[in-house]
Amino acid sequence: MVSRLLTNIGELLTNNVELGDHSPVGRLRDAALVVDDERVLWVGDSSSAPDADERYDARGAAVVPGFVDSHTHLIFAGERSDEFEARMAGRPYAGRGIARTVEATRAASDEQLRQESGTRLGALRAGGVTTVEVKSGYSLDVAGEARLVDLASEITDEVTFLGAHVVPREFTHDRGAYVELVAGEMMRRCAGAKWTDVFCDDGAFDVDEARVVLNAGRAAGHELRLHANQLRDIGAISLAVELDCASVDHCTYVDDEDVERLAGSHTVATLLPGAEFSTRSPYPSGRRLRDAGVTVALATDCNPGTSYVTSMSFVIALAVREMGLSVDEAVWSATRGGAAALRRDDVGHLSVGARADLVILNAPRVAHLAYRPGASLVREVWRNGVE
Ligand code: NIG
Ligand code: FE
Repeated sequence: MVSRLLTNIGELLTNNVELGDHSPVGRLRDAALVVDDERVLWVGDSSSAPDADERYDARGAAVVPGFVDSHTHLIFAGERSDEFEARMAGRPYAGRGIARTVEATRAASDEQLRQESGTRLGALRAGGVTTVEVKSGYSLDVAGEARLVDLASEITDEVTFLGAHVVPREFTHDRGAYVELVAGEMMRRCAGAKWTDVFCDDGAFDVDEARVVLNAGRAAGHELRLHANQLRDIGAISLAVELDCASVDHCTYVDDEDVERLAGSHTVATLLPGAEFSTRSPYPSGRRLRDAGVTVALATDCNPGTSYVTSMSFVIALAVREMGLSVDEAVWSATRGGAAALRRDDVGHLSVGARADLVILNAPRVAHLAYRPGASLVREVWRNGVE
């Protein structure tokens, strides 16, 4: 295996508290890193770096771990920019638009879905995402959801079954039958996914329905995550903690008791500021969650309805500007926090032995990610040590 020395790094965030300045982001200056095409082999000062087969001069640039985007709905057909325009003109988001994407996705061929999702995946990767979670949820029938799980598996190991996204039109008058279908036959056909998720919210599934689906997911061997309290507080966060979900996502509406519950749990709060941005909703406070001791992750929520966002830099900038996180905290949440939301230890940091996934920025300091929103700040992305 070929080893590569990445040297002359102006600012390196390792997310290893034992390194550098011993802060949570483990910051080193004038640093170097040696990787092979899988793992980090060495990290330390440029001046004491060992030899390697190849050498890459970062010329003073900042380097961060590859972004871990732990929440996307990457596989869908079509777009819904008209709904976005209507919302900007004052109409609220109600989740009903999902049916339009379901219709377009059902009608699309595998090839069309591969092509459209591949374009979005390319944008995420170019923006520094090295690990991505992908959900099903835009077919809402047995064969269609199984197809989306299969297509997602072509992209990533972090595949989530979201048959319980909303109740499809065919079942409007018998929601119970749809919940039964999702928890039964659909779950069996989608057992190849790693995760089960439910949209537990106003207009989607209530807490009792979500509990049925999540328990069926666990019985099928899945780990659990939950869309919670995006539109209203219906008690979904407490369900996520009760069932030890790896992550509870959105948390747009969160009360003091939920904050306490989360702080005393192993459930990560994944914030999705692209959704608040695109639906003109109030941003939840990342500051409040962090100060209470909750582990916070940041993700794109890339989907055609509420957050057609493929840039983790944009998400970081929003979290700093609108959610009260410092730049270091936001970058940590977009990397190690995302890894925690996927219960992964091998990504999201640059310790020796971690996966060699990193981003070389077009900037001398990591703060530029929030300081220069909309700029193209990614010079290079290495995934498994390879450009
Ligand atoms: O995470 N909240 C549920 N699902 C998506 C929105 C899906 C859509 O509107 O198409 C979300 O925001
Ligand atoms: Fe989502």
